[in-house]
Order: sequence, then C-alpha cells, then structure tokens
Amino acid sequence: MDVELIPAAASYPIRHAVLRPSQSIDEVPFKEDGEPGTATFGAIDRASGAVVGVATVFREPAPLDAAEAGVPLGAGHEAAAWRLRAMATREDLQGQGIGSLVLDTVLAHVAAEGGDLVWCNARVHAIGFYQRAGFETWGDEWVVPIHGPHVVMWRWIEPRKAT
Ligand SMILES: CC(C)(COP(=O)(O)OP(=O)(O)OC[C@H]1O[C@@H](n2cnc3c(N)ncnc32)[C@H](O)[C@@H]1OP(=O)(O)O)[C@@H](O)C(=O)NCCC(=O)NCCS
Repeated sequence: MDVELIPAAASYPIRHAVLRPSQSIDEVPFKEDGEPGTATFGAIDRASGAVVGVATVFREPAPLDAAEAGVPLGAGHEAAAWRLRAMATREDLQGQGIGSLVLDTVLAHVAAEGGDLVWCNARVHAIGFYQRAGFETWGDEWVVPIHGPHVVMWRWIEPRKAT
C-alpha cells in the first residue's frame, strides 16, 4: 500500500460511498479542496491502482480553547492548527491498517509544514480510531444533520509538544 498526494477529485468516490452515501456526489467537494495549501492523501492499492483510503487536511484555527486544553504555547504564539476532514477507508478494507497509514502521512505532512496541532470534527463511532492515534476529545457532542453525532478531537504534532 502506498500513501501519496492525490487530486482531491480522486478522493470523491470514497468520500461519497463511505461518508456521504445519501447525498449527491456533487455535494462531496469542500470549498477548501481547490485552495492552495490543501492536501489530499490517498492510500493506493499497488496491485489494482485503486484509491482505497483518503483524507484531506488544510490550515484552519482549532475550535478549542488553548488555555483550557492545556496547550503549552509560548506567549503570543497562536497554535498553527490544521483541520483533518473526510478521513475514510473503503468499507470492505476497514480494520486492516489503511486508515492508520493515511493518518500517519497526514501527521507527517503537517509536521513538515510546521503545524502545531491537528483537529477534526469526529463522528462519535470513530472516536476510538482517533484515540488510538493520540487524539483527545474536546467539548460536548453535537449532531450534524444526516451525519449524526460528532465531537471535536485534536492532538499535538509531537515536536511542538516537547517544547
Ligand atoms: C475510521 C476509519 C477511517 C478508520 O480506518 P481503518 O482503515 O478502518 O483504520 P485502521 O485499520 O488503520 O485502524 C487503526 C486502529 O483503529 C481501530 N479502529 C478503527 N476504526 C475504529 C473505530 N471506528 N472505533 C474504534 N477503533 C477503531 C482499529 O481496530 C485499529 O486498532 P489497532 O491499532 O489496535 O489494531 C474507517 O473505519 C472509516 O472509514 N470509517 C467510516 C468513515 C468514518 O467514520 N470516518 C471518520 C470520519 S470522522
């Protein structure tokens, strides 16, 4: 399995099938997909060339209170926050490590770009996946129409955490 940068549109079939099956594929793109600095990663099955896991990441301030969350940033330093969206593995291949590979690549990308933390609006059924990857929940759950209950989750990019 290779994980590499892919055009956002190459992630749309999995976004649609796994995350937004009740919507039209025309509703799958995000406005951030076409913006500079947005990165979409795909896990590519070597044998078939198929994209089997995806995630998109871009700079966006985190919706958590840095002081209350115990974020150890220096005075006057705003956390360089990146938002993870549309993390999904093809349904028949879930639970085989593909999501972890994609997420590791996302975290490495954010680290290379100088990011301090990564956050997402996590579907509650995926909390365990993110917790295994070092994310913590923040605040209360809320319900997104069609998509169900969500909670903010976030984690440090390690080099910053050590300072
Ligand atoms: C969440 C998702 C992306 C994880 O991808 P995956 O390829 O199945 O994940 P992995 O196989 O790499 O799993 C990594 C670890 O997380 C665990 N895990 C995976 N999904 C989990 C879940 N929903 N709840 C709890 N643990 C989970 C795995 O058991 C594995 O644990 P291990 O390291 O102890 O073996 C995938 O299940 C998915 O697409 N789900 C539906 C879409 C979705 O909810 N996306 C998240 C939107 S916020």
